[in-house]
Amino acid sequence: MKDRISHICDALFAAPVFADIGCDHGYMALHMLKNHLCERAYISDISSGSLKKAQALLADYIAEGKCIPVVANGLEGIKEPCDLVLIAGMGGEEIVSILAKFPLPRRFVLQPMKSSEKVRRFLLSRGAKIERDCTFSEEKRTVKYYDLIVGAAEGGDVYSEREFRYGRDNLNGVSPCPFLDMMRGEREKIASRLTRQEMSAPNREKLLKELSEKENIIDEIERYLQSRG
Ligand SMILES: C[S@@+](CC[C@H](N)C(=O)[O-])C[C@H]1O[C@@H](n2cnc3c(N)ncnc32)[C@H](O)[C@@H]1O
Repeated sequence: MKDRISHICDALFAAPVFADIGCDHGYMALHMLKNHLCERAYISDISSGSLKKAQALLADYIAEGKCIPVVANGLEGIKEPCDLVLIAGMGGEEIVSILAKFPLPRRFVLQPMKSSEKVRRFLLSRGAKIERDCTFSEEKRTVKYYDLIVGAAEGGDVYSEREFRYGRDNLNGVSPCPFLDMMRGEREKIASRLTRQEMSAPNREKLLKELSEKENIIDEIERYLQSRG
């Protein structure tokens, strides 16, 4: 079972100038450089303490001029157009606030820890094309689920309300399985809250509505998987 960082690395692709914003450990830039996927990698973090970890990991590439460390807020320290920008492991609101200050990067890979819907809405409001939008799972002591959004600044896209909320590829059969497991888990949690917890009538109604929405989605995906055999 792959971990979160391996999933993100697998979503990266060849790009002459790459930037990892909020790089912390620097593993993703190492993946890009080691596999000759980029000519230059910017590693940027708002925290000099975090950046030091990446600088230690990538010291040889920094010495060769192939890796450029920057302490900066978001994209502020990147002094040339990037072909691919990665922002991973941050909340969706933080990702939006970083992207909103500049023209969108030509291509991007985003891995929000929460509020993915806000990221999707922001990207489409800026005319971006979302090329991949799915949930993946990481199994360590417990199973965790993360969203991954890959796209391009140009091309435009139209999403339904459900796609904004849940991610297009989770619903269209491109990548249904981790998402289906997550939905089943959420269904169990809601069902158990409804049986165990005292709550006001409006709260119960809200939860029942949420349960029914998730059940519909689960049914649709299950039917789709059955039809595929
Ligand atoms: C949880 S770590 C994620 C590290 C790595 N990107 C990953 O996915 O494993 C978040 C990193 O983002 C940095 N960070 C948070 N806000 C930032 C911002 N506005 N600009 C640049 N870096 C930021 C933090 O200092 C931290 O090192």
